[in-house]
Amino acid sequence: MAEKTDGVEVSEAQIASHWKEEDLIHPSISFIGQANMANPKIREHFSSDNFPESFRLYADLLDWDQYWHTTLDSSEPPFFKWFVGGKLNASYNCVDRHLAKHGNKVAFTWVSEIEGEPDRVISYRELWVMVNEFAALLKDFAGVKTGDRVTLHMPMVLELPVTMLALARLGVTHSQVFGGFSGAACGDRIVDSDSHVLITSDAYYRSGQLLDHKIKADEAVVQAEKGGVKVDKVLVWQRYAAKASSPTPMVEGRDYFVNDLLSDYRGQRVDPVSLPADHPLFLMYTSGTTAKPKGCQHSTGGYLAYAAGTSKFYQDIHPEDVYWCMADIGWITGHSYIVYGPLSVAASSVLFEGVPNYPDPGRPWRIAERLGVNIFHTAPTTIRMLRKAGPDEPAKYDYHFKHMTTVGEPIEPEVWRWYYDVVGKGEAAIVDTYWQTETGGFIGTTLPALEPMKPGSCGPGALGIVPVILDEDGNKIEPGSGKAGNICMSNPWPGRMQTIYGDPERFVDTYYAKYAKSDSKDWRDWPYVTGDGGTQGADGYLRVVGRVDDVINVAGHRLGTKELESAALTVEAVSEAAAVPAFDELKGRVPEMYVSLKPGFGADSGVDEQVRQAISQIIGPIARPSHVWVTSDLPKTRSGKIMRRVIASISNFIDVGDTTTLSNPEIVEEIQRQVQTAKVGLGKIPQGVPQEVIQEIMRFGEEK
Ligand code: PRX
Repeated sequence: MAEKTDGVEVSEAQIASHWKEEDLIHPSISFIGQANMANPKIREHFSSDNFPESFRLYADLLDWDQYWHTTLDSSEPPFFKWFVGGKLNASYNCVDRHLAKHGNKVAFTWVSEIEGEPDRVISYRELWVMVNEFAALLKDFAGVKTGDRVTLHMPMVLELPVTMLALARLGVTHSQVFGGFSGAACGDRIVDSDSHVLITSDAYYRSGQLLDHKIKADEAVVQAEKGGVKVDKVLVWQRYAAKASSPTPMVEGRDYFVNDLLSDYRGQRVDPVSLPADHPLFLMYTSGTTAKPKGCQHSTGGYLAYAAGTSKFYQDIHPEDVYWCMADIGWITGHSYIVYGPLSVAASSVLFEGVPNYPDPGRPWRIAERLGVNIFHTAPTTIRMLRKAGPDEPAKYDYHFKHMTTVGEPIEPEVWRWYYDVVGKGEAAIVDTYWQTETGGFIGTTLPALEPMKPGSCGPGALGIVPVILDEDGNKIEPGSGKAGNICMSNPWPGRMQTIYGDPERFVDTYYAKYAKSDSKDWRDWPYVTGDGGTQGADGYLRVVGRVDDVINVAGHRLGTKELESAALTVEAVSEAAAVPAFDELKGRVPEMYVSLKPGFGADSGVDEQVRQAISQIIGPIARPSHVWVTSDLPKTRSGKIMRRVIASISNFIDVGDTTTLSNPEIVEEIQRQVQTAKVGLGKIPQGVPQEVIQEIMRFGEEK
């Protein structure tokens, strides 16, 4: 994205990276000795010469009802099709096929947030029984069938993977909405995906509180109806079977407790439907540059092969390991690396209901010690939080990780080192996995037994993926040049989303239009644009600097500025709104809102709280801005566009640059005085804003 800043063209390519090279760290001999992938020739296998057939290795990890005839059909770029002609079922691959060898093996150990409440441990066989019975219920009672879509709005309970697998068994595309999102956000996603069944839970624990979740289903149904979609049935799983945990009443003829219905399906079995490789397995909504979230549609064959292959080689999961990914299944990380990837390689996983620091920051390490977790997977935000709250906690517990993952945001080398030395006790190999909702699985990471770690850098492209950094004109920025540019992937891979549900044009526009030769049918002319800026070292290691679009990555979760702004504009008094990222020591970035008011409304009328509430209600508490600044006006260009870059600079106490080209330059000083005086008063002056954040803010453009 090139933009006019102070009359000068500033682009990613011109911003030199200030990153100091870190020393390489090699994995231990004992890790290498047991690794699933320790063959130094594996890169050769995945070389460009071998593309796309190299990806057979991943697809061969699955059981196919019918083998495919064409590994990659690239005749209609960028709508690439993988394993064409092949048929399979994801539920069968994650459950049934393990029964013979691993029937009694633990699939999941579910851990309540309330310490002392018993775990729920289910074997692959028990998982199979639950999936079958629920699939029978879905088919006969809810009337869903192959090709339908069903929305889920569930917290971290065992019934969530059961529900996903039961739907996958029937060939029904699931769309799980993060449980922390509001009922309204869920309703919008119901409309977009045209779902007529909503599956939810009555309640769950969060930081020690039993939250009423059922109420959000009622809100979602109302919101969906406003959008023209009628939800016929709401199926409610219970936090405590046969006990009311939510005060929200059930709506007669619409809402049903799954528990009450399941007894009719005891012992029932449903054959997995044999589906073409490109049958859509699920939708996962994510934020983009417009207010409307994108439904990333993932395939059955390509996606599952990629999740399985990367779980085996990069997560290094062996059947005898105890694997714990702390992400929420409501995000892509949970789909690929709690449910589909680990189950397809017969993992035993921990599923944790709650927040990592409840009741105290020793909790994760107690769980790891008690359950013998040896593979651990979390995000930098959590690592920062645990480090701050309990830097010495890990040493108190007798657990041993062989492998750890960091995912979702850039990790500072200093935080990486605490993770390595203190959490990993210097024993664990770390993978810093770079990827996106859209990519289905990792796109940048080291192979843990073969490629050394470099703190703060994810590593080279994942096997079979060739990253390239392009400048604004599409020229390649040579690795090692120290210059940043737009991170792209030069070739297709099986895990990539198929399209944006219902909006193939937006798919092409968002991920390909920037550099594609649009009349070419050669995949080489269609680099995938990640929307991230970054650099590549001479060794090919990537360092992600941050987003280049109007997306704010908060604690590893994406929020579109437009989504935040539209929510703020629902407050009657607000006439204009702008969302900007502010540096936060723990979460990386937090959103701050700037609003100006309609004539006749005063700043003292509680507008800031109304904006906060509107955002919480419309998107969810995760998006709640840290500050809402009610200002007399917002800085604008002569054509009337809000200059977010200027206000973002103010929020972060960095130089606002030249503002003489604005139509109202005088407002800058006024806002600066207002905001910075308030922040100084609150003791909230950001300390040590990293170079990456400054770069990201400089890119924060005009309103489009
Ligand atoms: O900016 C990159 C950042 O998170 C974005 C993707 O967010 P989402 O679709 O929510 O998926 C998160 C989990 C895969 C990316 O565009 N990101 C993700 N992983 C990393 C990262 N930034 C730096 N390092 C990573 N390892």
